[in-house]
Amino acid sequence: MKGIKHPRNDETINPSGNASIYDIIDGIDASRRTFIKGSVGSTALAAAGGLTLSGLVGTVQAAPVPAGLGFPGIGFESVPASVSIATAPAASAVADKITVPTGYTAELFVAWGDAIMPGGVPFASDASNTAAEQAKQFGAHNDGMAFFPFTGADGKPTSDRGILAINNEYTHEEILTPSGVAGASIASVRKSQAAHGVSILEARRRNGKWAVVKTSPYGRRLTANTKTRISGPAAGHALMKANEYTITENGSFPTGKQTDGFTAYGTINNCANGVTPWGTYLTCEENFNGNFGSTAALPSATSGEAGKLFNRYGFTAAGFDYKWHTQDPRFDLAVNPNESNLFGWVVEVDPYDPKSVPVKRTALGRIKHESAQYVVDAAGHLAVYMGDDERNEYIYKFVSAGKYSSTNRAANRDLLDAGTLYVAKFAADLSGQWIALLPGTIGVDGLALRDNPNFAGADDAEVLAKILIKTRMAADAVGATMMDRPEWTGARPRIGGFNKIEIYCTLTNNNRRGTNAPSSNKADGSTAAGSARPPVDAANPREDNIYGHIIRWQEDADTVKATSFTWNLFLQAGDTKTTKAPKPTNNYKGNIVADPFGSADFGAPDGLWFDHFGRLWVQTDQIGDASGDWKNLGANCMVCADPNTGMARRFLTSPNGCEVTGIAMSPDGKTMWVGVQHPGEGSPASNPEKISKWPANQWGVESDGVTSLPFGRPRSSVVVITKDDGGIIGS
Ligand code: FEO
Ligand code: CA
Ligand code: CA
Repeated sequence: MKGIKHPRNDETINPSGNASIYDIIDGIDASRRTFIKGSVGSTALAAAGGLTLSGLVGTVQAAPVPAGLGFPGIGFESVPASVSIATAPAASAVADKITVPTGYTAELFVAWGDAIMPGGVPFASDASNTAAEQAKQFGAHNDGMAFFPFTGADGKPTSDRGILAINNEYTHEEILTPSGVAGASIASVRKSQAAHGVSILEARRRNGKWAVVKTSPYGRRLTANTKTRISGPAAGHALMKANEYTITENGSFPTGKQTDGFTAYGTINNCANGVTPWGTYLTCEENFNGNFGSTAALPSATSGEAGKLFNRYGFTAAGFDYKWHTQDPRFDLAVNPNESNLFGWVVEVDPYDPKSVPVKRTALGRIKHESAQYVVDAAGHLAVYMGDDERNEYIYKFVSAGKYSSTNRAANRDLLDAGTLYVAKFAADLSGQWIALLPGTIGVDGLALRDNPNFAGADDAEVLAKILIKTRMAADAVGATMMDRPEWTGARPRIGGFNKIEIYCTLTNNNRRGTNAPSSNKADGSTAAGSARPPVDAANPREDNIYGHIIRWQEDADTVKATSFTWNLFLQAGDTKTTKAPKPTNNYKGNIVADPFGSADFGAPDGLWFDHFGRLWVQTDQIGDASGDWKNLGANCMVCADPNTGMARRFLTSPNGCEVTGIAMSPDGKTMWVGVQHPGEGSPASNPEKISKWPANQWGVESDGVTSLPFGRPRSSVVVITKDDGGIIGS
């Protein structure tokens, strides 16, 4: 229904005369500006044109805001699902392009292989760029991202210039190099490693057009070989000491020493992200297990500490076909098993300081981290909410021991190093518990974690280190709720009179939910990753959960330190037109609210993010375009939803064989960046364009505005979206 309950134009929503969202943002920025200034050297500042730096990164939920703003409404009409096109070749199931609503324009912003920093060279469409060249280019398979504005001459955060930090999750070897995976060599492995990590770049709009500033001093790449620091309770533990190598372009050569437990090289499988209120970026290491392999059989799951860890985190001798271990012994579990413990962390990086060393924050646990959403409560305590994306894994929160300072940036630098990690348990009565993962916590077997052999240590400090390195096993021990693949978490902004701490989490799917014979993750931590078959429960109520759902919870007493919460399901995704017969506890149709009914159907929700105005954006990652279970849903998409009513509209549809993931917005809300990952995935090295030619086909250029035929290969990219009337995206 349209009308008063669902205002569809942001001009109609604030008749109260209360402060606008811009005032709120400006107020927040003013409170931080003093300490954000000076976080980079004077040379970089000068190069940035004399701009100072802003810490504003969409932090309205952390600030007191006036009541009465109301939900800003969704002011566009849904774009149709991108379903089969009659003229498509067999391998091209859906329109091979981005579609946005009438009144909006999407343009290519940056694509895999574009130069983003001084010394960068253009993308070679035959994939002949070397590892060294890739290390100065935009990485592969972009995922989560965040925009970090500067502060302009008027003292306000800039919306035409800033830094984008963008994750590069993984590589597809068949398109990464001319010869594909069959030609694995140290050169191709180094290129894959250089394409992983994070791309940090300066974005600037001139004459209405956004572009990457390729000469910016802020341009930076973090890769699988970048030196990082390990901090927090697990730093220095014996399990965090690995073989030390001299890493060169020709190979990794053992020095004969061990690392110190405080140093790690590289960040990999950087999936989604978070930010902090002090203006740093959090990059989350997800499927790190797949980058490892073994030149010998792995130890059995019962043979010792390494075997148990490999089993619980899903390491295999073959890995995910990156073949790094065949060329780089650092990633060979047979010779360097502890290297595997150096990944699976949330890594903090300061985008304003190009020379800063990224920090792996072990207090936030070691899981397949999807994203990291912070909330600061009224008392100044900070929490980070996180999902572990694998079937039957858990939802976590970290609560800092110290308080956030809005006036002293340096005081927050190590806030993520001390605190308590909790895991969620959802009860059928819509209540829930946060169970602390601490040495004294009693597990379901009646033993304190310090007495559980998995975490045995000389003292509680060592026990805690082991709990954090083996986070999944600690959550198993305390009986946490097995979820249908927790992906992104998002905090609803506390604006418009809404003042609860309310967190949303996408549960993308689970094809083992409710299947036979039922089994659960074992309390002794011995379950192989993703192998259990849990029965349905209240929080995961559908057998054969193809389409996924979104769960949300509110912290009791409006504090992030709460150990109890209330929850409900925001929506169950699905296909209203499906003819698939429901199972007894199933409803494949879902309950997405849309007008007309069924017009915003989607499945496999993954990306989830609240903008500064309270709109909820959801991005999908289904496998299959317009076929099988996705026949009516078409291509992957992004929808916008009203958190009050659930009313959703489809904002964007995507090219063939991709997922939509990663989203950022300028402070004024008038520019949005959206990521398209792995277009054309599944094509062989012999025919990289078999499934998709995007993005070159949509804009007629290969990259950077350069026309270079033939196009060569599909490329993961970030598009920039603006409203033709210059308005706020989504309004
Ligand atoms: Fe990298 Fe769970 O998505
Ligand atoms: Ca994801
Ligand atoms: Ca996903």
